[in-house]
Amino acid sequence: MLYAFELSGEHAVLPVKEVYACLSMEDLEYREHSHLDHCLVVDIEGESVDEKLASVAGRLAMSHHILKIVGICDLIDESIIEMCERSDISGHLSRGQTYVVRARRVKHYGDINRESIEGRLGGSIFRKGFRANLNDPDVTFRLIMSNKAVFGSIVASVERSEYEHRAPHKKPFFYPGVLMPRIARTLVNISRIRSDEVLFDPFSGTAGILVEGGLVGAHVVGIEVRQMISNGARMNLDEYDADYSLLVGDACRVPLKGCCVDAIVTDPPYGRSAAIKAESLGHLYSDSFAEMYRVLKPGKLAVVVSEIKVEVFAEKAGFSIVDIFTQKVHRSLTRTFTVLCKD
Ligand SMILES: C[S@@+](CC[C@H](N)C(=O)[O-])C[C@H]1O[C@@H](n2cnc3c(N)ncnc32)[C@H](O)[C@@H]1O
Repeated sequence: MLYAFELSGEHAVLPVKEVYACLSMEDLEYREHSHLDHCLVVDIEGESVDEKLASVAGRLAMSHHILKIVGICDLIDESIIEMCERSDISGHLSRGQTYVVRARRVKHYGDINRESIEGRLGGSIFRKGFRANLNDPDVTFRLIMSNKAVFGSIVASVERSEYEHRAPHKKPFFYPGVLMPRIARTLVNISRIRSDEVLFDPFSGTAGILVEGGLVGAHVVGIEVRQMISNGARMNLDEYDADYSLLVGDACRVPLKGCCVDAIVTDPPYGRSAAIKAESLGHLYSDSFAEMYRVLKPGKLAVVVSEIKVEVFAEKAGFSIVDIFTQKVHRSLTRTFTVLCKD
């Protein structure tokens, strides 16, 4: 069965990687069908797919909606109506249920009038014997007008506004240099941490990453060198009822036994504004990567945010490099996200 993930487009690759990580964590079998602009179409097999996709939506940060696809065609109004006319929509809408159709244009694709196509698709579904309800429908059909037209019913939506509510300055404790919650959640997802597993951040700061890990049900463990910041992290973690352990200490000498954490997501100091407690940034990175490698379970992932390339430190510690992404934050700051595996 084909499903579409309506991607946020805030990064070229991270939204796609996040979707695949979340599908794997639900043990769903999937295969990429096509990757359109802001829309990823995936063939997903298995039991209770719609229910599992509801959990996936609860974790995702960089998608808007998940659609069960009715059809995909060229972005031409007559082709879209014809596709809807010949489609069996019984798998999307039960007898007696009401519906609405909403359309969204991605960037500048096509010149189809949004309201007109919503009305025409609504008419097509009406002729199949269903009743529309624009205010409180049971099922919302969505047309994504990208480099193709993708039409389907929404099976789950991502509560993107929740991430805005958790913006760093809205938390009980704020200190500059924090990742935005959507990025932090995406990295937590890419680390493939599951609920009830242990997620570790050796440079936990105000706990921006750990809050997102706690919200997906992980037990989160953080180390922060500055007592004042660690006190603030505690306030933030309490605010979101996280199951956590915080230590004031040094990421280069981690007081944990070997192979005890299931994933690491961390944002070490870049040597700009955040204070470092080490001889130099080089020492901090080589010693902390060695500690990350030691405490991580074999076969598990670490995701590290940095301004400099960290492959040399990571490989010296024993990690293999899985993926590297970059994100331009502003003119003088490009972040690198490096995904590492302890083989
Ligand atoms: C970029 S900030 C992390 C921000 C964090 N993700 C947050 O949500 O606030 C890096 C943090 O590492 C801390 N730090 C610096 N050197 C450290 C060390 N040797 N061990 C542990 N923490 C350290 C800094 O005090 C700072 O809070």
